[in-house]
Amino acid sequence: MIPQSFIQDLLNRLDIVEVINRYVPLKKAGANYQACCPFHQEKSPSFTVSPTKQFYHCFGCGAHGSAIGFVMEYQGLGFVEAVQQLAQHAGMTVPETRELRGAEQEKSGRQASLTALLEQAAQYYRQQLKQAPVAVNYLKGRGLTGEIAKRFEIGYAPDGWQNLQAVFADYAQAGLVEAGLVIEGEGKRYDRFRDRIMFPIRNQKGAVIGFGGRVLGQGEPKYLNSPETPVFSKGRELYGLPQAREGIRRTGRVLVVEGYMDVVALAQMGVDYAVATLGTATTAENAARLLRLTDRVVFCFDGDAAGRRAAWRALENSLAQLKDGKRVDFLLLPQGEDPDSYVRQFGADAFETLLEETALPLSTFWLQELRARVDMATQEGRAELVTLAAPLLRNVAAPALGAMMRRQLAQAVGLEMHELAPLLGEPAVTPMEAAAPMRSGGGRGRRAPSLVRNLLRVVLAEPSLASRLEPATLKSAVAPAPELQALLLVVEFVARQGGAVSMAVLLEGLRGHPLEPVLQAVAADVLELGDGYSANEDLDGALKQLQAVAARQRIDVLRRKPLAELSALERQELQQLLLQRHELPADAGHKE
Ligand code: UTP
Ligand code: MN
Repeated sequence: MIPQSFIQDLLNRLDIVEVINRYVPLKKAGANYQACCPFHQEKSPSFTVSPTKQFYHCFGCGAHGSAIGFVMEYQGLGFVEAVQQLAQHAGMTVPETRELRGAEQEKSGRQASLTALLEQAAQYYRQQLKQAPVAVNYLKGRGLTGEIAKRFEIGYAPDGWQNLQAVFADYAQAGLVEAGLVIEGEGKRYDRFRDRIMFPIRNQKGAVIGFGGRVLGQGEPKYLNSPETPVFSKGRELYGLPQAREGIRRTGRVLVVEGYMDVVALAQMGVDYAVATLGTATTAENAARLLRLTDRVVFCFDGDAAGRRAAWRALENSLAQLKDGKRVDFLLLPQGEDPDSYVRQFGADAFETLLEETALPLSTFWLQELRARVDMATQEGRAELVTLAAPLLRNVAAPALGAMMRRQLAQAVGLEMHELAPLLGEPAVTPMEAAAPMRSGGGRGRRAPSLVRNLLRVVLAEPSLASRLEPATLKSAVAPAPELQALLLVVEFVARQGGAVSMAVLLEGLRGHPLEPVLQAVAADVLELGDGYSANEDLDGALKQLQAVAARQRIDVLRRKPLAELSALERQELQQLLLQRHELPADAGHKE
């Protein structure tokens, strides 16, 4: 990892004109420099380099970036290589950050020693299973074959308080407690897992990081899990990932179930692409990892009330991780069944048919669940539906899917899209406004961008103006779409840097961030704006619009109260707001 501060020093030290001129001879044209674009064939120059923004941009093919980006693109280098080359030319040495590395090494060394202990324990438990007919019989009774037990390395922790003494010569070592294998209480140490079927949990790299232990038959708790340790985090890890990897790759999907036994039974029957959460609700981290793994995630839960609740949690935690092109489905099993019982009774084909025929896409499931919570027959119920849906829609990170979900909601409650938008806390876009051409200064006949996009354009063109934006006002006044998240990100980034950064520093500083594509899209807009563009003016306009949105929200609040209940002060406020409204641009859309 090259430290962020070094990248910024480097960019501040470099002159992009000088860098690009080494490869492509540039000619001065006004405030900028021009050349024929090296990235596509052209006869007249549309490749432009801006010394003030420290950015290049091609009006022909849309290529753009910082000096680092140019070297990467032109020479086909990776980020680190490009930085190294540029640094060398500038007489700077890329720091090795030895301190950081030392700390990291120590941490990974400690983790390795813990996983080594856990690995030893796993081997011991597996051996013990062979010598424990009660445990073997329990597993056989549940239909497990020896082969599948071996594949999942299932073991047995024998009864007794200190069996691990036979495994670890130094039973008193701190690592055993830290790894969660041994419990220390009142000066005594004893094994955490006793008389339990042991399911070792391996991480993505294949290291044992913890265990789930099941009682044989009845008993509390049914499953005992490893505690949170430096190597084991329940909200982050998934059971069965190493075993499912090949199946996920082959089928292009991953099935997420609730139980260890479900994963094992499904795999035995041939559904070899299932993983389980670790006794917790699906976390955002789980969802993010699953969606990175493959394009289709199927959450599978029992059909009872608890299963529906768990499915809803999974939905809530997936929204912000969604991307257009990815798909999240929900499979609710028939009442009384879990994946284990279903697949054993009906087989893998029946299970997969059920999956294909009854799994609901997220976009169907969310509305179906919400509709069930309100009385759709009344206007009040439908209004409540909008209230319930608003926070969810704000979280959807996939723009296209989000737009379709808004449309679905509008249809369900019988409102027009432009009526719904302000109710979702979004600036209203009237059909007229949406179709209106760009305001002056925008050029190129694009559509009027949203308020947030305006602001994003402002802060990319002139990052120092970010200091005029209050994150708190932004959050309350406009919709937290990805563009708003990107805007907040920039405002925070600029504040952290003390205000004076170029667009190049900004975009390099946020390279690799999930919101980078949003920023890049707006950056391309900014670069196409002519010299006549004034970020200051644009900001003034946008701030007025923002005020108008806030005013409209306040008006709505005041109007919802019966007139008789308004205090004199509130009446005055309302009157003033209504008066002002006619002078503000945003309410009607834009200044003419
Ligand atoms: P279930 O209670 O649904 O059990 O727990 P199951 O998977 O059907 O297990 P069997 O078939 O009775 O053996 C599902 C998951 O919830 C967690 C475990 O991760 C389990 O796999 N759990 C459950 C616990 O952590 N502790 C418990 O006491 C029970
Ligand atoms: Mn079960």
